[in-house]
Amino acid sequence: MNDMIRPDMGEAARAILARNDRGGYTIPTDRLYPFQWNWDSAFVAIGFSTFDPDRAYRELERLAEGQWDDGMIPHIVFHAPSDTYFPGPDVWGTRHRIPTSGITQPPVFGMALRQVHEAAIAAGRSDAMERSRVLFRHALRSHRWWLQARDPDATGLVAILHPWESGSDNSPAWDEALSRVPTSTTTAIRRKDTGHVDAAMRPKDIDYQRFIHLVDTYRESGWDPARQWAAAPFKIAEVQMTAILARATRDLVALAEALELPEEGIELSAMEARLTRGLAARWRSDLRRFVSRDLISGEDVEAPTQAGFVPLIAVTLDPAQREAAGTELARWCDAMVAGVPSTAPFAPTFEPRRYWRGPVWAVINWLIADGLRHNGLGDQARMVERGTIGLMERAGFCEYFDPTTGEGLGGDTFSWTAAAYLVLSRRT
Ligand code: DGY
Repeated sequence: MNDMIRPDMGEAARAILARNDRGGYTIPTDRLYPFQWNWDSAFVAIGFSTFDPDRAYRELERLAEGQWDDGMIPHIVFHAPSDTYFPGPDVWGTRHRIPTSGITQPPVFGMALRQVHEAAIAAGRSDAMERSRVLFRHALRSHRWWLQARDPDATGLVAILHPWESGSDNSPAWDEALSRVPTSTTTAIRRKDTGHVDAAMRPKDIDYQRFIHLVDTYRESGWDPARQWAAAPFKIAEVQMTAILARATRDLVALAEALELPEEGIELSAMEARLTRGLAARWRSDLRRFVSRDLISGEDVEAPTQAGFVPLIAVTLDPAQREAAGTELARWCDAMVAGVPSTAPFAPTFEPRRYWRGPVWAVINWLIADGLRHNGLGDQARMVERGTIGLMERAGFCEYFDPTTGEGLGGDTFSWTAAAYLVLSRRT
Protein backbone atom coordinates (compact mmCIF):
# COMPACT_ATOMS: atom_id res chain seq x y z
CA MET A 1 0.00 0.00 0.00
CA ASN A 2 1.21 3.47 -0.89
CA ASP A 3 2.52 5.22 2.23
CA MET A 4 0.74 8.45 1.21
CA ILE A 5 -2.65 6.82 1.67
CA ARG A 6 -4.86 7.86 4.59
CA PRO A 7 -6.63 4.78 5.98
CA ASP A 8 -9.82 6.73 6.76
CA MET A 9 -10.18 7.62 3.07
CA GLY A 10 -10.76 4.01 2.02
CA GLU A 11 -13.53 3.76 4.59
CA ALA A 12 -15.02 7.04 3.36
CA ALA A 13 -14.92 5.81 -0.23
CA ARG A 14 -16.78 2.62 0.70
CA ALA A 15 -19.31 4.70 2.64
CA ILE A 16 -20.06 6.73 -0.50
CA LEU A 17 -20.73 3.59 -2.49
CA ALA A 18 -23.05 2.38 0.28
CA ARG A 19 -24.84 5.72 0.39
CA ASN A 20 -25.36 5.78 -3.39
CA ASP A 21 -26.61 2.18 -3.49
CA ARG A 22 -30.24 1.99 -4.65
CA GLY A 23 -30.63 -1.78 -4.52
CA GLY A 24 -27.83 -3.56 -6.33
CA TYR A 25 -27.00 -0.60 -8.52
CA THR A 26 -25.19 2.61 -7.67
CA ILE A 27 -26.26 6.08 -8.73
CA PRO A 28 -23.37 8.44 -9.62
CA THR A 29 -24.51 10.97 -6.99
CA ASP A 30 -27.76 11.93 -5.32
CA ARG A 31 -30.20 14.29 -7.13
CA LEU A 32 -27.90 15.35 -10.03
CA TYR A 33 -27.72 11.78 -11.40
CA PRO A 34 -30.44 9.71 -9.71
CA PHE A 35 -30.39 6.59 -11.98
CA GLN A 36 -27.89 3.95 -13.11
CA TRP A 37 -25.36 5.31 -15.61
CA ASN A 38 -23.51 2.89 -17.87
CA TRP A 39 -19.78 3.66 -17.59
CA ASP A 40 -20.13 5.05 -14.07
CA SER A 41 -21.45 1.67 -12.96
CA ALA A 42 -18.71 -0.26 -14.71
CA PHE A 43 -16.02 1.77 -12.91
CA VAL A 44 -17.97 1.36 -9.67
CA ALA A 45 -18.05 -2.42 -10.18
CA ILE A 46 -14.24 -2.38 -10.35
CA GLY A 47 -14.22 -0.37 -7.12
CA PHE A 48 -16.50 -2.92 -5.46
CA SER A 49 -14.32 -5.77 -6.70
CA THR A 50 -11.57 -4.55 -4.33
CA PHE A 51 -13.63 -5.52 -1.28
CA ASP A 52 -16.96 -7.14 -2.28
CA PRO A 53 -16.95 -9.21 -5.51
CA ASP A 54 -20.58 -10.28 -4.99
CA ARG A 55 -21.75 -6.65 -4.98
CA ALA A 56 -19.48 -5.96 -7.96
CA TYR A 57 -21.25 -8.67 -9.97
CA ARG A 58 -24.60 -7.27 -8.88
CA GLU A 59 -23.71 -3.84 -10.29
CA LEU A 60 -23.03 -5.33 -13.73
CA GLU A 61 -26.06 -7.63 -13.56
CA ARG A 62 -28.35 -4.66 -12.89
CA LEU A 63 -26.77 -2.71 -15.76
CA ALA A 64 -27.29 -5.71 -18.05
CA GLU A 65 -31.03 -5.57 -17.23
CA GLY A 66 -31.10 -2.46 -19.38
CA GLN A 67 -29.52 -4.10 -22.46
CA TRP A 68 -31.65 -3.86 -25.59
CA ASP A 69 -32.52 -6.82 -27.83
CA ASP A 70 -30.13 -5.47 -30.48
CA GLY A 71 -27.23 -5.60 -27.98
CA MET A 72 -26.90 -1.92 -27.07
CA ILE A 73 -26.34 -1.17 -23.39
CA PRO A 74 -27.97 2.24 -22.88
CA HIS A 75 -26.28 5.11 -21.13
CA ILE A 76 -28.98 5.40 -18.45
CA VAL A 77 -31.19 2.70 -16.92
CA PHE A 78 -34.17 4.34 -15.20
CA HIS A 79 -34.80 1.58 -12.61
CA ALA A 80 -36.95 3.83 -10.38
CA PRO A 81 -38.60 7.20 -11.02
CA SER A 82 -37.05 10.51 -9.93
CA ASP A 83 -38.02 14.07 -10.79
CA THR A 84 -34.58 15.60 -10.14
CA TYR A 85 -33.14 14.86 -13.62
CA PHE A 86 -33.78 16.02 -17.18
CA PRO A 87 -34.19 14.41 -19.73
CA GLY A 88 -36.19 11.59 -18.10
CA PRO A 89 -37.83 8.51 -19.69
CA ASP A 90 -40.71 10.49 -21.26
CA VAL A 91 -38.25 12.48 -23.40
CA TRP A 92 -36.39 9.38 -24.61
CA GLY A 93 -39.54 7.43 -25.49
CA THR A 94 -37.77 4.08 -25.79
CA ARG A 95 -39.42 0.66 -25.60
CA HIS A 96 -37.30 -1.53 -23.32
CA ARG A 97 -39.12 -3.30 -20.48
CA ILE A 98 -37.24 -1.14 -17.96
CA PRO A 99 -37.23 2.49 -19.17
CA THR A 100 -33.82 3.49 -20.54
CA SER A 101 -32.23 6.26 -22.55
CA GLY A 102 -31.71 5.54 -26.26
CA ILE A 103 -27.97 6.19 -26.64
CA THR A 104 -24.97 4.41 -25.17
CA GLN A 105 -21.73 5.20 -23.30
CA PRO A 106 -18.12 3.93 -23.24
CA PRO A 107 -18.14 0.11 -22.90
CA VAL A 108 -16.07 -0.14 -19.73
CA PHE A 109 -18.35 -3.12 -18.94
CA GLY A 110 -15.93 -5.67 -20.49
CA MET A 111 -12.95 -4.22 -18.64
CA ALA A 112 -14.93 -4.36 -15.40
CA LEU A 113 -16.13 -7.90 -15.98
CA ARG A 114 -12.59 -9.23 -16.28
CA GLN A 115 -11.54 -7.56 -13.03
CA VAL A 116 -14.66 -8.65 -11.17
CA HIS A 117 -14.18 -12.22 -12.42
CA GLU A 118 -10.55 -12.30 -11.32
CA ALA A 119 -11.40 -10.86 -7.90
CA ALA A 120 -14.21 -13.40 -7.45
CA ILE A 121 -11.94 -16.31 -8.40
CA ALA A 122 -9.23 -15.01 -6.06
CA ALA A 123 -11.84 -14.81 -3.28
CA GLY A 124 -12.80 -18.44 -3.97
CA ARG A 125 -16.43 -17.69 -4.89
CA SER A 126 -18.15 -20.83 -6.12
CA ASP A 127 -20.59 -18.85 -8.31
CA ALA A 128 -17.85 -16.95 -10.18
CA MET A 129 -17.71 -19.02 -13.41
CA GLU A 130 -21.47 -19.10 -13.81
CA ARG A 131 -22.06 -15.41 -13.15
CA SER A 132 -19.13 -14.41 -15.36
CA ARG A 133 -20.42 -16.59 -18.22
CA VAL A 134 -23.82 -14.89 -18.18
CA LEU A 135 -22.30 -11.40 -18.10
CA PHE A 136 -19.77 -12.37 -20.78
CA ARG A 137 -22.72 -13.09 -23.14
CA HIS A 138 -24.11 -9.61 -22.45
CA ALA A 139 -20.71 -8.04 -23.12
CA LEU A 140 -20.18 -9.98 -26.35
CA ARG A 141 -23.61 -8.95 -27.68
CA SER A 142 -22.80 -5.34 -26.83
CA HIS A 143 -19.44 -5.47 -28.66
CA ARG A 144 -21.10 -6.99 -31.72
CA TRP A 145 -23.63 -4.12 -31.62
CA TRP A 146 -20.80 -1.60 -31.47
CA LEU A 147 -19.11 -2.91 -34.59
CA GLN A 148 -22.31 -3.36 -36.60
CA ALA A 149 -24.16 -0.21 -35.57
CA ARG A 150 -21.28 2.19 -35.11
CA ASP A 151 -18.68 1.05 -37.65
CA PRO A 152 -20.85 -0.15 -40.53
CA ASP A 153 -18.04 0.54 -43.04
CA ALA A 154 -15.50 -1.54 -41.05
CA THR A 155 -12.98 1.28 -40.61
CA GLY A 156 -11.79 0.05 -37.22
CA LEU A 157 -13.14 3.14 -35.45
CA VAL A 158 -16.53 3.35 -33.77
CA ALA A 159 -18.59 6.52 -33.97
CA ILE A 160 -20.60 8.48 -31.46
CA LEU A 161 -23.87 10.08 -32.56
CA HIS A 162 -24.31 12.24 -29.45
CA PRO A 163 -21.77 14.02 -27.21
CA TRP A 164 -23.39 12.35 -24.19
CA GLU A 165 -22.26 8.99 -25.57
CA SER A 166 -18.62 10.00 -25.17
CA GLY A 167 -19.20 10.78 -21.50
CA SER A 168 -17.36 14.06 -22.20
CA ASP A 169 -20.53 16.02 -22.91
CA ASN A 170 -19.29 19.56 -23.60
CA SER A 171 -15.70 18.82 -24.59
CA PRO A 172 -14.12 21.33 -27.00
CA ALA A 173 -13.66 18.27 -29.25
CA TRP A 174 -17.32 18.65 -30.24
CA ASP A 175 -17.45 22.44 -30.67
CA GLU A 176 -17.17 22.46 -34.43
CA ALA A 177 -19.33 19.41 -35.11
CA LEU A 178 -21.96 20.54 -32.62
CA SER A 179 -22.12 24.05 -34.10
CA ARG A 180 -23.72 22.48 -37.20
CA VAL A 181 -26.49 20.87 -35.13
CA PRO A 182 -29.68 22.97 -35.09
CA THR A 183 -30.82 24.45 -31.76
CA SER A 184 -34.52 23.80 -32.45
CA THR A 185 -36.22 21.14 -30.33
CA THR A 186 -39.66 19.55 -30.25
CA THR A 187 -39.06 18.71 -26.57
CA ALA A 188 -39.42 21.50 -24.02
CA ILE A 189 -36.09 21.88 -22.22
CA ARG A 190 -36.42 21.91 -18.44
CA ARG A 191 -32.90 21.66 -17.08
CA LYS A 192 -32.57 20.34 -13.54
CA ASP A 193 -28.76 20.07 -13.36
CA THR A 194 -28.23 23.79 -12.80
CA GLY A 195 -30.50 23.57 -9.75
CA HIS A 196 -27.96 21.19 -8.18
CA VAL A 197 -24.62 22.56 -9.45
CA ASP A 198 -23.39 26.10 -10.23
CA ALA A 199 -24.27 26.84 -13.89
CA ALA A 200 -20.68 28.04 -14.47
CA MET A 201 -19.50 24.45 -13.96
CA ARG A 202 -22.03 22.89 -16.36
CA PRO A 203 -22.68 22.90 -20.12
CA LYS A 204 -24.39 26.02 -21.47
CA ASP A 205 -28.08 26.33 -22.47
CA ILE A 206 -27.16 26.37 -26.14
CA ASP A 207 -25.34 23.05 -25.67
CA TYR A 208 -28.52 21.59 -24.17
CA GLN A 209 -30.59 22.81 -27.13
CA ARG A 210 -28.32 20.85 -29.44
CA PHE A 211 -28.14 17.82 -27.13
CA ILE A 212 -31.93 17.66 -27.13
CA HIS A 213 -32.21 18.32 -30.87
CA LEU A 214 -30.17 15.14 -31.34
CA VAL A 215 -32.39 13.17 -28.92
CA ASP A 216 -35.48 14.38 -30.83
CA THR A 217 -33.89 13.31 -34.14
CA TYR A 218 -33.06 9.80 -32.96
CA ARG A 219 -36.41 9.30 -31.21
CA GLU A 220 -38.07 10.23 -34.50
CA SER A 221 -35.86 7.58 -36.18
CA GLY A 222 -37.57 5.00 -33.95
CA TRP A 223 -34.24 4.29 -32.20
CA ASP A 224 -33.30 2.15 -35.18
CA PRO A 225 -29.47 2.06 -35.56
CA ALA A 226 -29.43 2.23 -39.38
CA ARG A 227 -31.98 5.06 -39.52
CA GLN A 228 -30.11 6.98 -36.83
CA TRP A 229 -26.82 6.53 -38.68
CA ALA A 230 -28.42 7.94 -41.83
CA ALA A 231 -30.16 10.85 -40.05
CA ALA A 232 -27.32 11.82 -37.68
CA PRO A 233 -26.24 15.46 -37.97
CA PHE A 234 -23.41 14.65 -35.50
CA LYS A 235 -21.14 11.69 -36.17
CA ILE A 236 -17.58 11.40 -34.87
CA ALA A 237 -15.30 8.37 -35.26
CA GLU A 238 -13.95 8.73 -31.77
CA VAL A 239 -10.59 7.64 -30.38
CA GLN A 240 -11.50 7.56 -26.66
CA MET A 241 -14.54 5.37 -27.32
CA THR A 242 -12.66 3.11 -29.72
CA ALA A 243 -9.77 2.75 -27.26
CA ILE A 244 -12.08 1.72 -24.43
CA LEU A 245 -13.87 -0.73 -26.74
CA ALA A 246 -10.54 -2.18 -27.94
CA ARG A 247 -9.21 -2.56 -24.41
CA ALA A 248 -12.49 -4.10 -23.22
CA THR A 249 -12.35 -6.47 -26.18
CA ARG A 250 -8.86 -7.57 -25.17
CA ASP A 251 -10.13 -8.17 -21.63
CA LEU A 252 -12.95 -10.29 -23.06
CA VAL A 253 -10.43 -12.32 -25.08
CA ALA A 254 -8.67 -13.13 -21.80
CA LEU A 255 -12.01 -13.97 -20.19
CA ALA A 256 -13.02 -16.21 -23.09
CA GLU A 257 -9.95 -18.25 -22.33
CA ALA A 258 -10.64 -18.34 -18.59
CA LEU A 259 -14.26 -19.34 -19.27
CA GLU A 260 -13.26 -21.91 -21.89
CA LEU A 261 -15.09 -20.31 -24.80
CA PRO A 262 -12.59 -20.71 -27.67
CA GLU A 263 -14.87 -19.72 -30.58
CA GLU A 264 -15.85 -16.50 -28.88
CA GLY A 265 -12.17 -15.88 -28.17
CA ILE A 266 -11.39 -16.09 -31.90
CA GLU A 267 -14.23 -13.72 -32.79
CA LEU A 268 -13.11 -11.22 -30.15
CA SER A 269 -9.46 -11.39 -31.23
CA ALA A 270 -10.51 -10.43 -34.75
CA MET A 271 -12.53 -7.51 -33.34
CA GLU A 272 -9.56 -6.36 -31.29
CA ALA A 273 -7.24 -6.48 -34.31
CA ARG A 274 -9.68 -4.39 -36.35
CA LEU A 275 -10.02 -1.77 -33.60
CA THR A 276 -6.33 -1.45 -32.79
CA ARG A 277 -5.53 -1.07 -36.50
CA GLY A 278 -8.13 1.67 -36.77
CA LEU A 279 -6.73 3.43 -33.72
CA ALA A 280 -3.09 3.16 -34.77
CA ALA A 281 -3.92 5.09 -37.94
CA ARG A 282 -5.21 8.02 -35.85
CA TRP A 283 -1.79 8.88 -34.32
CA ARG A 284 -0.62 12.35 -35.35
CA SER A 285 3.11 12.83 -34.88
CA ASP A 286 2.89 16.64 -35.22
CA LEU A 287 0.37 16.81 -32.35
CA ARG A 288 1.99 13.94 -30.38
CA ARG A 289 -1.41 12.38 -29.65
CA PHE A 290 -4.34 10.60 -31.31
CA VAL A 291 -7.16 12.46 -33.06
CA SER A 292 -10.79 11.61 -33.84
CA ARG A 293 -12.43 12.12 -37.21
CA ASP A 294 -15.59 14.09 -37.93
CA LEU A 295 -17.50 11.84 -40.32
CA ILE A 296 -19.81 14.64 -41.49
CA SER A 297 -17.06 17.10 -42.50
CA GLY A 298 -14.41 14.45 -43.18
CA GLU A 299 -11.93 16.51 -41.10
CA ASP A 300 -9.69 15.52 -38.19
CA VAL A 301 -10.80 16.78 -34.78
CA GLU A 302 -7.68 18.60 -33.62
CA ALA A 303 -9.03 20.16 -30.41
CA PRO A 304 -6.58 19.16 -27.66
CA THR A 305 -8.54 17.06 -25.17
CA GLN A 306 -7.80 14.13 -22.85
CA ALA A 307 -9.20 11.77 -25.51
CA GLY A 308 -5.89 12.05 -27.40
CA PHE A 309 -4.07 10.06 -24.70
CA VAL A 310 -6.67 7.42 -23.87
CA PRO A 311 -5.66 5.14 -26.83
CA LEU A 312 -2.52 4.27 -24.85
CA ILE A 313 -4.68 1.69 -23.02
CA ALA A 314 -5.19 -0.19 -26.28
CA VAL A 315 -2.25 0.55 -28.58
CA THR A 316 1.42 -0.31 -28.10
CA LEU A 317 3.37 2.72 -29.28
CA ASP A 318 6.74 2.52 -31.01
CA PRO A 319 9.67 4.13 -29.11
CA ALA A 320 9.42 7.48 -30.94
CA GLN A 321 5.67 7.69 -30.35
CA ARG A 322 6.10 6.71 -26.71
CA GLU A 323 8.59 9.48 -26.11
CA ALA A 324 6.43 12.01 -27.95
CA ALA A 325 3.25 11.07 -26.03
CA GLY A 326 5.11 11.25 -22.70
CA THR A 327 6.56 14.66 -23.55
CA GLU A 328 3.20 16.01 -24.66
CA LEU A 329 1.43 14.78 -21.55
CA ALA A 330 4.12 16.36 -19.36
CA ARG A 331 3.56 19.67 -21.18
CA TRP A 332 -0.17 19.52 -20.38
CA CYS A 333 0.51 18.86 -16.69
CA ASP A 334 3.30 21.41 -16.31
CA ALA A 335 2.27 24.22 -13.91
CA MET A 336 -0.92 22.38 -12.89
CA VAL A 337 -1.56 21.53 -9.23
CA ALA A 338 -2.45 18.10 -10.62
CA GLY A 339 -3.03 16.73 -14.13
CA VAL A 340 -4.40 15.52 -16.43
CA PRO A 341 -6.57 18.47 -17.53
CA SER A 342 -9.43 17.47 -19.86
CA THR A 343 -8.41 20.28 -22.22
CA ALA A 344 -4.83 21.45 -22.81
CA PRO A 345 -4.17 24.44 -20.52
CA PHE A 346 -2.47 26.31 -23.36
CA ALA A 347 -5.59 26.09 -25.59
CA PRO A 348 -7.95 29.09 -25.86
CA THR A 349 -10.87 26.74 -25.09
CA PHE A 350 -9.43 25.81 -21.66
CA GLU A 351 -11.90 26.52 -18.81
CA PRO A 352 -10.51 24.90 -15.66
CA ARG A 353 -13.87 24.87 -13.83
CA ARG A 354 -16.36 23.93 -16.55
CA TYR A 355 -17.18 20.21 -16.73
CA TRP A 356 -15.24 18.66 -19.69
CA ARG A 357 -13.47 21.84 -20.80
CA GLY A 358 -10.50 21.67 -18.42
CA PRO A 359 -11.18 19.94 -15.10
CA VAL A 360 -9.41 16.76 -14.03
CA TRP A 361 -11.50 13.58 -13.81
CA ALA A 362 -10.33 10.71 -11.60
CA VAL A 363 -11.55 7.95 -13.94
CA ILE A 364 -9.85 9.50 -16.96
CA ASN A 365 -6.62 9.66 -14.99
CA TRP A 366 -7.11 6.01 -14.10
CA LEU A 367 -7.39 5.12 -17.82
CA ILE A 368 -4.46 7.33 -18.78
CA ALA A 369 -2.30 5.85 -16.01
CA ASP A 370 -3.16 2.34 -17.22
CA GLY A 371 -2.22 3.39 -20.75
CA LEU A 372 1.09 4.91 -19.64
CA ARG A 373 1.98 1.76 -17.75
CA HIS A 374 0.96 -0.44 -20.69
CA ASN A 375 3.43 1.57 -22.75
CA GLY A 376 6.31 1.35 -20.31
CA LEU A 377 5.89 4.87 -18.91
CA GLY A 378 5.58 3.70 -15.29
CA ASP A 379 7.02 6.83 -13.66
CA GLN A 380 4.53 9.06 -15.40
CA ALA A 381 1.70 6.64 -14.54
CA ARG A 382 2.62 6.86 -10.85
CA MET A 383 2.72 10.65 -11.05
CA VAL A 384 -0.79 10.75 -12.49
CA GLU A 385 -2.07 8.29 -9.87
CA ARG A 386 -0.47 10.13 -6.94
CA GLY A 387 -1.76 13.45 -8.23
CA THR A 388 -5.29 12.02 -8.43
CA ILE A 389 -5.13 10.61 -4.92
CA GLY A 390 -3.79 13.93 -3.65
CA LEU A 391 -6.74 15.78 -5.17
CA MET A 392 -9.21 13.48 -3.44
CA GLU A 393 -7.39 13.66 -0.12
CA ARG A 394 -7.50 17.45 -0.19
CA ALA A 395 -10.94 18.07 -1.71
CA GLY A 396 -12.93 14.84 -1.20
CA PHE A 397 -14.63 12.54 -3.70
CA CYS A 398 -15.88 15.29 -5.99
CA GLU A 399 -17.14 14.83 -9.52
CA TYR A 400 -14.14 16.71 -10.97
CA PHE A 401 -11.32 19.06 -9.93
CA ASP A 402 -9.86 22.39 -11.04
CA PRO A 403 -6.34 21.46 -12.20
CA THR A 404 -5.02 24.97 -11.51
CA THR A 405 -6.10 25.07 -7.85
CA GLY A 406 -7.05 21.51 -6.86
CA GLU A 407 -10.54 22.67 -5.86
CA GLY A 408 -13.29 20.01 -5.97
CA LEU A 409 -16.14 20.84 -8.37
CA GLY A 410 -19.51 19.61 -9.66
CA GLY A 411 -21.43 17.04 -7.65
CA ASP A 412 -19.87 15.85 -4.40
CA THR A 413 -19.80 12.33 -2.91
CA PHE A 414 -19.37 10.90 -6.38
CA SER A 415 -19.42 7.12 -6.79
CA TRP A 416 -16.88 6.72 -9.58
CA THR A 417 -14.43 9.04 -7.84
CA ALA A 418 -14.71 6.87 -4.73
CA ALA A 419 -14.19 3.77 -6.89
CA ALA A 420 -11.11 5.35 -8.46
CA TYR A 421 -9.74 5.96 -4.98
CA LEU A 422 -10.25 2.32 -3.98
CA VAL A 423 -8.39 1.14 -7.07
CA LEU A 424 -5.60 3.72 -7.33
CA SER A 425 -4.77 3.73 -3.62
CA ARG A 426 -3.86 0.02 -3.83
CA ARG A 427 -1.13 0.78 -6.33
CA THR A 428 2.32 1.75 -5.14
C1 DGY B 1 -25.83 14.68 -18.01
O1 DGY B 1 -27.05 14.69 -17.98
O2 DGY B 1 -25.11 15.59 -17.61
C2 DGY B 1 -25.16 13.47 -18.49
O3 DGY B 1 -23.81 13.63 -18.63
C3 DGY B 1 -25.80 12.90 -19.70
O4 DGY B 1 -25.55 11.56 -19.59
